Amino acid sequence: MSQSAQSELESLIRARYPIVYVVSWEEQRVEHVMRAIARDRGKKLHVWTITHGFGAGTGQRDPATRDPLAALEHVATSPDQAIFLLKDFHAYIADASVTRRLRDLTPILKNSYKNLVLLAPILKLPADLEKEVTVVDFALPTYEELGRLLDDIVLSVKDMPDIRWQLEPERREQVLKAAQGLTALEAENVFAKSLVQKRTFDVDVILSEKEQIIRKSGILEYYPASEAFANVGGLDLLKDWMEKRTASFTDKARDFGLPEPKGILLLGVQGCGKSLSAKAIGALWRLPLLRLDIGKVFAGLVGASEENMRKALRVAESVAPCVLWLDELEKGLSGIQSSGASDGGTTSRVFSTFLTWLQEKTVPVFVVSTANQVEVLPPELLRKGRFDEIFFIDLPAAAEREEIFRIHLRKRKRKPEDFDLAELARATPGFSGAEIEQLVVEALYDAFDAGTDLTTDLLVRAARATVPLSMTMREKIAYLRDWASTRARPASSVEVESFEDQAAAFLANRIIAKQEAMGRGRANEEPTAPKSDEAEESPPKARRRTSAKAKAQKSQ
Ligand SMILES: Nc1ncnc2c1ncn2[C@@H]1O[C@H](COP(=O)(O)OP(=O)(O)OP(=O)(O)O)[C@@H](O)[C@H]1O
Ligand SMILES: [Mg+2]
Repeated sequence: MSQSAQSELESLIRARYPIVYVVSWEEQRVEHVMRAIARDRGKKLHVWTITHGFGAGTGQRDPATRDPLAALEHVATSPDQAIFLLKDFHAYIADASVTRRLRDLTPILKNSYKNLVLLAPILKLPADLEKEVTVVDFALPTYEELGRLLDDIVLSVKDMPDIRWQLEPERREQVLKAAQGLTALEAENVFAKSLVQKRTFDVDVILSEKEQIIRKSGILEYYPASEAFANVGGLDLLKDWMEKRTASFTDKARDFGLPEPKGILLLGVQGCGKSLSAKAIGALWRLPLLRLDIGKVFAGLVGASEENMRKALRVAESVAPCVLWLDELEKGLSGIQSSGASDGGTTSRVFSTFLTWLQEKTVPVFVVSTANQVEVLPPELLRKGRFDEIFFIDLPAAAEREEIFRIHLRKRKRKPEDFDLAELARATPGFSGAEIEQLVVEALYDAFDAGTDLTTDLLVRAARATVPLSMTMREKIAYLRDWASTRARPASSVEVESFEDQAAAFLANRIIAKQEAMGRGRANEEPTAPKSDEAEESPPKARRRTSAKAKAQKSQ
């Protein structure tokens, strides 16, 4: 039993906290601990379940106390100095009369030597009881406890002839580390499963059990390490930062005195590689990457959101060391300012559960959050100590666009050397990484359609026909940049073109595209004499074109 969970429970009982709510799947372990605490304190332990009433597990059942209200009445009137351990009670706690009875019971318990302990696998607490009830998350078995469990199993299989139970210290450590995060029962089961399947303690069998847990949680998604870091173009400062911390979860780093990194927040313009970088961290650090779906946290039953968040964080802890990725944080936070009025404070409570965890976590879970709307991020999230660093990811500069083209050309089986990358970068100021990827795909379609291969020219033409988002979201990006300039660290050391330069280049590109389209149109037509109004209009138009083009060239 983890010392901290046991001693926390002990001190709550000693300090006569009237109602303690223990969240755990491990009924046996908790009951075992409660029994030990009761014994130490010279108290009795009375256990209640919905099927047996009080006396559960003793053979002296009291069916009259099966009704939840009757059970609470029994607690109130019992002459015993006892700990009353109620299982299954979360199913009834939200009932108005049960809630009321619990509130009435509080002062009675305070003035007695009785304690009420509710034990449930999930936290379900009506808001009216928040002040009366103290919640304890019962910690999962520690490394040492799992070690003892493993030793017990070894002892029981030692005499079996075809079992390779011997574990040299290094492999024993691997087995125990793999089992960390499982409940005692789960660990016992998986050790047994491994012995049956492999005739030995097999790390892979244990790890696959953990993957199961993640899948079952429903809110977390397991991402295999698929995005190589080399597939992220630009963002040199962010990459340096991450590379420097690659070995930070090893024992060697710990011995050197390095603290484990907590997490980063990636803010930035849409489509510029926030999610991509998050995925790449998992691969770079060779850690499991878990994506927390904020949408799912808030989905489902009212009141379940907090529980969802707690559960997800516990699962993440159980898989540690790992990277926990919260994508598009703002989606979960958008209601936070109005949360009190709109959703009974659920958003704020879920968020504060997360913040507290972020601040206090001691397990190596590295958090990567991404967001592209800074307005909704509450100031407490940005306070020092929450994240190691806040990075701002801007639109890619020319040299970075070259790199991004290189990556995506290579991904589509083309040799980057066959293309004029500088020309491509010149044709795409204001384009995001996602838009560059899209260009490559579009030009490939054009080439396929025309029965040719992909060329620089086709790519440039596709670029000229595209309006990058940065043109339409200018104000938003400007705001983001301005905001980030004082609060975040740039992810890249190369400066991107100014809006004016981007706009000029964009305009020039549009004009060239139009000219070309007209040229192509003419080439298909029979040469005819221009109509008189067209002839009159063309000189000023041409002048405008040249001036915009000249401006664009000047900027490059
Ligand atoms: N720096 C980059 N290097 C290479 N590819 C990139 C880069 N930035 C974006 N891309 C491409 O664009 C795709 C979308 O990028 P990503 O999902 O990382 O954007 P994002 O910043 O998370 O945007 P959003 O704010 O919309 O979530 C990536 O999968 C990748 O193919
Ligand atoms: Mg994203």
